[in-house]
Amino acid sequence: MHLNRRLMLAAALALSLSAAPALAQTQVTIQSPIGINSHYGAGASAFKDTFERLTNNRFRVVYQRNDNEREAIESVQIGTIECNITSTGPVGNFVPETRNLDVPFLFRDTAHARGVLDSEIGQEMLGRFPARGIIAVAWLENGFRHMTNSRREVNTPADVRGLKVRTMENPVHMRAFQTLGALPTPMAFSELVPALQQGTVDGQENPIPVILNNNLNQVQRYLTLTGHVYSPALLLCSPAFVNRLSQQDRAALMQAGRDAAAANRARVTADEQTGVEELRRRGMTVVTQVDSAAFQQALAGGSAQIEQGLDSALIRRIREWR
Ligand code: PAF
Repeated sequence: MHLNRRLMLAAALALSLSAAPALAQTQVTIQSPIGINSHYGAGASAFKDTFERLTNNRFRVVYQRNDNEREAIESVQIGTIECNITSTGPVGNFVPETRNLDVPFLFRDTAHARGVLDSEIGQEMLGRFPARGIIAVAWLENGFRHMTNSRREVNTPADVRGLKVRTMENPVHMRAFQTLGALPTPMAFSELVPALQQGTVDGQENPIPVILNNNLNQVQRYLTLTGHVYSPALLLCSPAFVNRLSQQDRAALMQAGRDAAAANRARVTADEQTGVEELRRRGMTVVTQVDSAAFQQALAGGSAQIEQGLDSALIRRIREWR
């Protein structure tokens, strides 16, 4: 072929490629109550990488912050957003069985918690969601919750008495703080910082990654490593979204969920390793030596009330899990 003709053909081909319509992409919004630079953000980023790659970029995952977890779950349920990451805090209002996981001192340590969630117990629990109009893709985690406040060092359960403590909108947590003699005040995370600033509440409780990522050290002076309850988290998706996916894309979603869980857990572990020192550096007074048995004993007196309406056989099964 004549050189000029070949050049003209190549130019025409390049032009037709550049003029080709952009590949149609479906947007998948994933909401989370905290910023992208967090343990939930790590999970969402892994989810994005895997899901986009395995579906050849036919989907584009977009991270959006919504620090009202209950509202985000409702949006997933009605299908106005595709997915969200949430602690189990408000999930019991949708799938009451999850409240069994919110019992204080239920899990001995992180390995126990992760093991149970990865076992048939965790899988059975995920299986409860579709009947409530939600698809639970994977267990993520928030971590063990610790107390902070602006009034005093908490060394013993007696120090908690009389403190106004923000809790999640979770009756199990509220009853536990009542048992300790605190004044539990449930509210969405979106309301927490103003409530601490205005003194509506004296304290709150959250895992180290949350305290770090949200600079709660700016509004709280004292941190005590109570580790009073493990806070599981979930990657939830809307049936309206999942049911439209092909079998192959659904498999990609499940793989993305597993990768999200691994990245999220790795980040929680890392934050827990360095977070306490960082919070001290930012000026918090941290009590690390906590008499956990004393807190467990103080709560034992109210256990009938705290575990009211829960599944005692399941709680026993979780406690005895090895
Ligand atoms: O305290 C809460 O509400 C939750 O732990 C948070 C920070 C929204 C993360 O799930």
